[in-house]
Amino acid sequence: RKDVKIAMLPGDGIGPEILNEAARVLNALDEKFEMEWADVGGAGYAAHGHPLPEGTLKLAKEADAILFGAVGDFKYDTLERSLRPEQAILGLRKNLKLFANLRPAILYPELAGASTLKPEVVSGLDLLIVRELTGDIYFGQPRGHRSAPDGAFEGAREGFDTMRYAEPEIRRIAHIAFQTAKKRGKRLTSVDKANVLETSQLWREIMIDVSREYPDVKLDHMYVDNAAMQLVRAPKELDVIVTGNMFGDILSDAAAMLTGSIGMLPSASLDEDNKGLYEPSHGSAPDIAGKGIANPLAQILSAAMMLRYSLNMGEQADRIEKAVKKVLADGLRTGDIYEEGTKRVGTKEMGDAVVAAL
Ligand code: IPM
Ligand code: MN
Repeated sequence: RKDVKIAMLPGDGIGPEILNEAARVLNALDEKFEMEWADVGGAGYAAHGHPLPEGTLKLAKEADAILFGAVGDFKYDTLERSLRPEQAILGLRKNLKLFANLRPAILYPELAGASTLKPEVVSGLDLLIVRELTGDIYFGQPRGHRSAPDGAFEGAREGFDTMRYAEPEIRRIAHIAFQTAKKRGKRLTSVDKANVLETSQLWREIMIDVSREYPDVKLDHMYVDNAAMQLVRAPKELDVIVTGNMFGDILSDAAAMLTGSIGMLPSASLDEDNKGLYEPSHGSAPDIAGKGIANPLAQILSAAMMLRYSLNMGEQADRIEKAVKKVLADGLRTGDIYEEGTKRVGTKEMGDAVVAAL
């Protein structure tokens, strides 16, 4: 059979270091993968003048899956928006129609002490945020800067964005969320701001409509402000959350931090056919880049998610996840999850340990 082709896009900051470790883990499996590497983000801009160079986009389109590191660095903060590193990930999502973003927040029992919340509030936490990724105020038109056309500030400079969702966009993410919930705890919480926003009112209507096709899944609704509160009050009462792009961005950071370290959490961004981009939930952490201390586990677990969701290699995904649990049980910790009594290791040593545990 033809080798599976993976687009390896390391990006900026700690991206290259952690993606290297994921590559070593993939290479330690029995399957052969064809990995092709390309610049993206600030690295894409530096080498080719654009955060999402044409060659990189082409590679991403023709690959069977994409393993993405992270993008962003202080030194690109002054570039105009269209050239900033973030445009790389936004452009990949939009161009490849990766509308379904799955962000698990799992607390590994060994790391219960690393959470800022009390152990009894978070121990056993296993929740999943399904975030719509190609619509909402992130991409809605019109947007821009202008002189305010009316109102109390008429004539003043104003910036504006448009929050919008079309019914089919809501429907397709609803189906993903219900299907996911069906395979888990059969509960789905839809998060919106239907008491204020028209977009949310439509969102809620469609969620209720789609729920009729999934009679075994219990749907409830939460306003986003309340959802933020419930996430820190009693996160274990939540199982699967489905929400729009903007609310999902914010809530998924909060959910991630419940687990003690954002350095542990992978994510998947999928299109209609389960082709996907896989990336750690954390950013490029330029402050610790190049020091060899970053936690590679979120990247390694992203590779496992890739095997499971896009490449139909669930067994190999299980192997990687088990290996990660083993190194944690053995007491190995990078700085972000270090506690007294454990063994502090660097990026490479952590990768070595996962490879050895496979
Ligand atoms: C994320 C990030 C991105 C987003 C940025 C880098 C554009 O915060 O993946 O959550 O806002 O979606
Ligand atoms: Mn974010």
